[in-house]
Amino acid sequence: MGEFDRIHEHSVSAPDEFWRDAAAGVDWYTPFERVLDDSHAPLYRWFSGGTLNTCFNALDRHVNNGRGDAAALIYDSPVTDTVRTYSFAELRDLTARFAGVLAALGVGKGDRVIVYMPMIPQTVIAVLACARLGAVHCVVFGGFASNELAVRIDDCQPKAIVSASCGIEAGRIIEYKPLLDAAIEAAAHKADKCVIVQRPQAQAPMHRGRDIDWDEAMAGAAPHDCVPVAATDPLYILYTSGTTGQPKGVVRDNGGHAVALNWSMRNIYGVEPGEVYWAASDVGWVVGHSYIVYAPLLAGNTSVLFEGKPVGTPDPGTFWRVIEQHKVSVLFTAPTAFRAIKKEDPGAAYLEKYDTSRLRALFLAGERTDPDTLEWAEKHLGVPVIDHWWQTETGWSICANCLGIEMLPIKRGSPAKPAPGWELRVLGEDGKAMPAAEIGALVAQLPLPPGTFPTLWNAEERFRSTYLEPFPGYYLTADAGYIDEDGYVFVMARTDDIINVAGHRLSTGGMEEVLAAHADVAECAVIGVADQLKGQLPLGFLVLNTGCEREEGAIVQEVVQMVRERIGPVAAFKTATVVQRLPKTRSGKILRGTMQKIADGGQWKMPATIDDPVILDEIEAALKRMGYAS
Ligand code: COA
Ligand code: AMP
Repeated sequence: MGEFDRIHEHSVSAPDEFWRDAAAGVDWYTPFERVLDDSHAPLYRWFSGGTLNTCFNALDRHVNNGRGDAAALIYDSPVTDTVRTYSFAELRDLTARFAGVLAALGVGKGDRVIVYMPMIPQTVIAVLACARLGAVHCVVFGGFASNELAVRIDDCQPKAIVSASCGIEAGRIIEYKPLLDAAIEAAAHKADKCVIVQRPQAQAPMHRGRDIDWDEAMAGAAPHDCVPVAATDPLYILYTSGTTGQPKGVVRDNGGHAVALNWSMRNIYGVEPGEVYWAASDVGWVVGHSYIVYAPLLAGNTSVLFEGKPVGTPDPGTFWRVIEQHKVSVLFTAPTAFRAIKKEDPGAAYLEKYDTSRLRALFLAGERTDPDTLEWAEKHLGVPVIDHWWQTETGWSICANCLGIEMLPIKRGSPAKPAPGWELRVLGEDGKAMPAAEIGALVAQLPLPPGTFPTLWNAEERFRSTYLEPFPGYYLTADAGYIDEDGYVFVMARTDDIINVAGHRLSTGGMEEVLAAHADVAECAVIGVADQLKGQLPLGFLVLNTGCEREEGAIVQEVVQMVRERIGPVAAFKTATVVQRLPKTRSGKILRGTMQKIADGGQWKMPATIDDPVILDEIEAALKRMGYAS
């Protein structure tokens, strides 16, 4: 048995011992009484009885241990031509001060704070300041529209909102404040305090009595110390797409999260304290929460906060420039970012201009890494390219080739084996285990390891029915896949209506709700079709009301605009077509899976339950007109 298998075996046969050891990497105010608390199984808690503060572990303890001058955060923003490094001491002081700002606004332990921000240092400071107070942050990705923000305001009922005047998207200023104002106006819950970072690129008009200028507030604030919280208290809520337009509020606890993420830096990513680690993602996504903010800081690494895109800011050499300039040891991003670079610079000519020799590994996640991208990155970077699989719900990897433990041989298309703490099974619809190499539902044996979600915010019943009840004793990942004879996992597709657009997780059900709200639309379907750059793109099918005589193109344009306004530009919903009918089963279920297979030009079988096979011919013809199904 190799080192990885030995450690994995230990983690699942003696989880208490394994995670107790890992918990020694974190500072506790009071020690925990139990490592795994199974008193309310199948709801599990980790480290109950213990108290700690996540911000203390991410910042103060490094300062207290004499590493105050070490670099904690490097803000690199090609879109504003700024590079600024914050030491642990500086970041601690700014965070303590902003915690003071929030406290003066009445924010305390357990209160929620929405953070709707671009990729600027104040975002990291706001998030850590919440953790410092024991308040629960809820970051909303900047590419979401007002309506999505309003839904989150109503669900988590924040005491305060932190935002900025604008974000900057390759050459474009996106004013955030009008979006924020519209969301507050639309929400039933009235957030009465907003702190706004005024960026020089756009000045936001302020609402007197409600909006507070970040700089002014910071100037007058008293620093606030860390507030001890229970290990089981929530650290944050992060909303993610579900099967309806109502997003799911994934809850993260303090103790399990700090322990698992701190452990992951050395064991999964193989980085030592002091090394520079770069997750090129956005703080609005789980990757950003875990690997831009928390894990690197908990482990005493330097984290890079990059406000730019892989291409266009200013060119496809920007990643290599950042790696050279900041001496990055490990890079983590989504495959789509590499596809974007490869598309603009197929021969990797820009790579020649920079010294990337410090880079030891590239980790990819967010979607399956296609073999072409993997080979291109391996060939040009000359380092291991490691695909690892995880979800917003899990907060860290379910499967990974753990560089810090033992580098296993890479099998293309597989995120390697279940990480320590994870036991996976592949089950058929009847709940029976599938033979090796046969596809079924990928499920994880309960309890899930520390750092994963204990519940959904305000929705424990939804948590149980979505994740725990389909296969009792297991967590349903909603991904389908198989495990081969060597124990390597292959993640093939989602089993629900989630699609993955440029590494962003989106609900086609949510988009259908928007299309269905158009006055001329009788019925609709949205599917994800394969896209060379973004992995998948949404494609809409509209059946119009009988008697509707309006021009189809105008209706298509209107629904495209509606999705942009209600969900946001991040949905990248740009294509829809009008059809006479939608293909359905005899029981009335729309055959989205079959439509998707036809669109992608793959093999498909006529479903035995189809109501009228001719409709599929009509769909195929419509897809061909749009350049798909070839
Ligand atoms: N604020 C406001 N708008 C945003 C935004 C933000 N934070 N992020 C994206 N958008 C907008 C974009 O401007 C774009 O708008 P448009 O339709 O007017 O052009 C739209 O949302 C779609 O954005 P995106 O998916 O980022 O597409 P892109 O074409 O601008 O860039 C990639 C494509 C591949 C370069 C880009 O998606 C990327 O870098 N992806 C990395 C993936 C990643 O970070 N994944 C996170 C999980 S690891
Ligand atoms: P998110 O919650 O946004 O992180 O998206 C999680 C989903 O992205 C998973 O359920 C998978 O469908 C997909 N995903 C993430 N990483 C991988 C990967 N390495 N391989 C295959 N699919 C992945």
